[in-house]
Amino acid sequence: MSDAIIKTVQLTKEYGRGATLTRALRGVDLEIPRGSFTCIIGPSGHGKSTLMHLIGGLDRPSGGSVIIDGQQISSLSEKGLAALRASKIGFVFQFFNLLQSLTAAENIETALMLAGVPEAKQKPRALELLELVGLSEKADSKPGQLSGGQQQRVAIARALANDPPVLLMDEPTGNLDSAAEAEVMAVLEELNKKGKTVILVTHSSEIAARAGNLVRVRDGQIEAA
Ligand SMILES: Nc1ncnc2c1ncn2[C@@H]1O[C@H](COP(=O)(O)OP(=O)(O)OP(=O)(O)O)[C@@H](O)[C@H]1O
Ligand SMILES: [Mg+2]
Repeated sequence: MSDAIIKTVQLTKEYGRGATLTRALRGVDLEIPRGSFTCIIGPSGHGKSTLMHLIGGLDRPSGGSVIIDGQQISSLSEKGLAALRASKIGFVFQFFNLLQSLTAAENIETALMLAGVPEAKQKPRALELLELVGLSEKADSKPGQLSGGQQQRVAIARALANDPPVLLMDEPTGNLDSAAEAEVMAVLEELNKKGKTVILVTHSSEIAARAGNLVRVRDGQIEAA
């Protein structure tokens, strides 16, 4: 068996009940190889975000199991799951969720503080992370003074605060024009080369074409490639 950093077995997720029951995932068996660049594609409403939430440990399945880096999440308490998530997964969403009143560096410092990095180390580490995403010169800019692509790169730097092995992203370039998308993709490809497992949902066939590992979701199931 290959080395899967994330694995699901007969994963199901249902929302609501009775007349409003939605079977968002209907038995997903998935292995995401460590160090891969994985793209998840599929039509709207077919379960991609649900799958991302489950494999990131943000939500629990209705049935089946999720194994994150060897840890079965169903055996963990809420606290244990939060700790696993914090150490293993960096999240980036379509809307950058940056704090508008803070500078780029301060946004990252906040994440470092939450990650328990000592205060004296927060600033230098934030600057290192900004350098990694090519934004050293924007450390003191607030999100409103940055382009969409730049904001998304700050969000990626923030997701790297804990140095997680996995970056999980739900349409990280969904809100960007093609130039900004290219900037973000270049950063992600660089991080992947440095060993991060990158998992992203995308509607872009161009991005999907560059994925080393392509996962197609349809009707809450994985389609054979
Ligand atoms: N919190 C929720 N409560 C009830 N139903 C939900 C919830 N979240 C998602 N769903 C339903 O589950 C199904 C899958 O939704 P999901 O968000 O996973 O789709 P998606 O593939 O990410 O779509 P999109 O490409 O539009 O983002 C949809 O029918 C959706 O309406
Ligand atoms: Mg979605």
